Amino acid sequence: MALRLDKYLTELGIGTRSEVKKLIRAKQITVNGEPAVKPEMKVNEQSDKVCLRGEELTYASYEYYLFYKPAGCVSATEDTVHRTVMDYLTDTVRSDLFPVGRLDIDTEGLLLITNDGALAHELLSPAKHVAKTYYARVAGKVTQEDVNLFEKGVDIGEDKLTKPAKLVILSNDTPYADAGKSLPENGECRKILPGEIPEDGILSEIELTITEGKFHQVKRMFEAVGKKVVYLKRLSMGPLVLPEELAPGEYRPLNEQELAALKSRQ
Ligand code: URA
Repeated sequence: MALRLDKYLTELGIGTRSEVKKLIRAKQITVNGEPAVKPEMKVNEQSDKVCLRGEELTYASYEYYLFYKPAGCVSATEDTVHRTVMDYLTDTVRSDLFPVGRLDIDTEGLLLITNDGALAHELLSPAKHVAKTYYARVAGKVTQEDVNLFEKGVDIGEDKLTKPAKLVILSNDTPYADAGKSLPENGECRKILPGEIPEDGILSEIELTITEGKFHQVKRMFEAVGKKVVYLKRLSMGPLVLPEELAPGEYRPLNEQELAALKSRQ
């Protein structure tokens, strides 16, 4: 497929429309070895060789990355105060990447980053019921009664109760010093902070799978049963699992199997 040279260059983040026009005028861009003269000239992203100051550019229509979001960064593309997830993605091709969905600033774990708007829409659509699994540390004792309530749905102040969610208690008498020891996936986990230590020193460790994505949903579900989430980490989203080899702040492209699994959902 052919597209305009200025669009090709802006999509790759080379600059704004006016900046890439200046580059073209300054003969900094070549197409198949010849200096480009018009921003509107058509280039074929598969067969044409486009260079910026002699360096060949690589075009990609879509990119997909698994990112291990650390605490302290926001799930946005721009923010005037905090680091955004995009500040961590330094080695990507496209300029139009965005995170699929949001995790709270203090939540860690799996985020899919892409520029595939249709796929993002599918994954976030409430009608698709994409399962998301979280590991959480909750102050106090999470009980079988909570498991039953989450299965039925709880009132988090929305029009309807939450959809049935699967709560698995990994431990409900963990002294805070031992928190994280029963973390099943990706054992890496930040240290507990002083403000997160419950008065009685006891934490529960749980895994919760939900199929919705309401604002602060996991924290609000526990609030609905009188408990406080002190640490939250997303382990999976649909067929995607937080890769063990990633440390907080790291990312890697989806592999073929992951991409195929995602696309087969559509
Ligand atoms: N639920 C929450 O409460 N916070 C998140 O970041 C994700 C799910």
